[in-house]
Amino acid sequence: MSFLFLGRNKNNKKRKDSNLAVLPQHIGIIMDGNGRWAKKRGLPRSAGHTAGAKNFRTITRYCSDIGIKYLTVYAFSTENWKRPQEEVSALMNLFKQYLEEALSDFKDDSIVVRFIGDTTAFSPELQELIKRTQEESANRSGMVLNIAMNYGSRDEIIMAVKNISQKVSSGEVSLEDIDENMISSSLYTAGQPDPDLVIRPSGEYRISNFLLWQSAYTEYIILDKLWPDFSTDDLDNALVEFNNRNRRFGGV
Ligand code: FPP
Repeated sequence: MSFLFLGRNKNNKKRKDSNLAVLPQHIGIIMDGNGRWAKKRGLPRSAGHTAGAKNFRTITRYCSDIGIKYLTVYAFSTENWKRPQEEVSALMNLFKQYLEEALSDFKDDSIVVRFIGDTTAFSPELQELIKRTQEESANRSGMVLNIAMNYGSRDEIIMAVKNISQKVSSGEVSLEDIDENMISSSLYTAGQPDPDLVIRPSGEYRISNFLLWQSAYTEYIILDKLWPDFSTDDLDNALVEFNNRNRRFGGV
């Protein structure tokens, strides 16, 4: 049972720990460790992804309840296509199932669902579901949930460079106009604040092509737990640790 409420939650509960002053605006999560979770239990990897997808729903709702404004979850990378066909198919089926559920489930929480990544690589059926999920949730007022699917940060940066180069060629912008703001607003996360905190369960010390540009000054928390076991208490602990970090953004 979680105890920590840093922001406003639906029941207007107050947080218990008064030392916790700062709630990250934007949290990123690399949902890693599903395969190992399944292996430890003698189950197929797909069972780990099913458990991971259930947890995605729990943690998303919790983030929305405590007042997080933006949550970005890494669901499928541009590199994940290299996995065995059977595992990729199981993941695609899970995405369909959970997006159908998300359509109604996240409505009560007013969650805006967006997708970051090249979604044109997915089946027409999944693309249709992605489109419908985005359209139906676009006018909600709650937390923005970015689901990174077929996402790779290097691809995203290449896309931005191409867009800007085209504008330079056509004379719409000049070379001197190119600055950090222009690059940030050419990424999938245009208009959103950079993540303050990225959490990576499963004990791997890697960024794995996730929000490279956006996480220049992000605090990283790596914890030795597999994603399906990551609980709301773990999230609370991460928030406590985040509050203990001294963010200097290159200053002193
Ligand atoms: C990484 O763990 C996890 C993935 C590649 C898939 C994550 C997807 C989900 C949790 C489903 C989410 C559903 C929606 C609708 C967003 P891994 O398989 O690399 O684990 P391992 O390192 O232990 O092998």
